[in-house]
Amino acid sequence: MDELELIVVDGKCFSVVAAERLAELLATAVEDRGRATWMLAGGRTPRTIYARLAEPPLRDRVPWGMVDVYFGDERRVPPNDAHSNYAMALECLLSKVPIPTRQIHRIEAERADPERASEEYGALLPERVDVLLLGIGYDGHTASIFPGSPALRERRKRVLVVTSPSAPFERLTITPPVIEAARTIVVVAQGAVKAAAVERAVTGSFDPQRVPAQLARRATWIVDREAASGLAARRDDP
Ligand code: 6PG
Repeated sequence: MDELELIVVDGKCFSVVAAERLAELLATAVEDRGRATWMLAGGRTPRTIYARLAEPPLRDRVPWGMVDVYFGDERRVPPNDAHSNYAMALECLLSKVPIPTRQIHRIEAERADPERASEEYGALLPERVDVLLLGIGYDGHTASIFPGSPALRERRKRVLVVTSPSAPFERLTITPPVIEAARTIVVVAQGAVKAAAVERAVTGSFDPQRVPAQLARRATWIVDREAASGLAARRDDP
């Protein structure tokens, strides 16, 4: 996929439309290559999407036994912490579907040596992730790659220890090469608070230093009408 696909949906359909697309991508990847690697997004937006994937009919559409799950970023907190992306995914999805535990590869961001943890996780990642799910922050960040971050200039390492402007401040994140190598990318955004970031990411001049989510410009963007309102405004500009 080399071009951007924009899907704007009513808020009440957002989670099921995103979950359906993810289920379809995972099933197709298994059909095409025998297995699928899926890198999860953190934060709040994916919660309801994961919940949809954890219940019939979508739960039964995904060949979970052939799926390996990874994480695009993680906060430096214990895996049972309320701020942990792994804890959120486990609660909303992974504890409710028949995926073997050995196929859930969490980032051990809580380790005393985060640099070592980031190197080991980078080595664990597949060459190309089949399905990469990303969110976008109101400031245009994605994963834990924030505007102006040194991570934006990383071309060799696949995971870095970074500092976030918002708590939890220490995080581990994938780097641009992982995003660029992904076979398919889905970006999800919900709510008016994301409207400006979505508009900049989707229609603004290409400047990932300022809008890191543009690293995923060639993705399928699934956004609700509120998050798309900046696009409508721009489209309606004289
Ligand atoms: C994280 C995520 C981050 C998230 C955006 C949007 O660890 O927080 O990886 O990139 O996708 O910050 O977060 P919300 O979905 O909570 O708005």
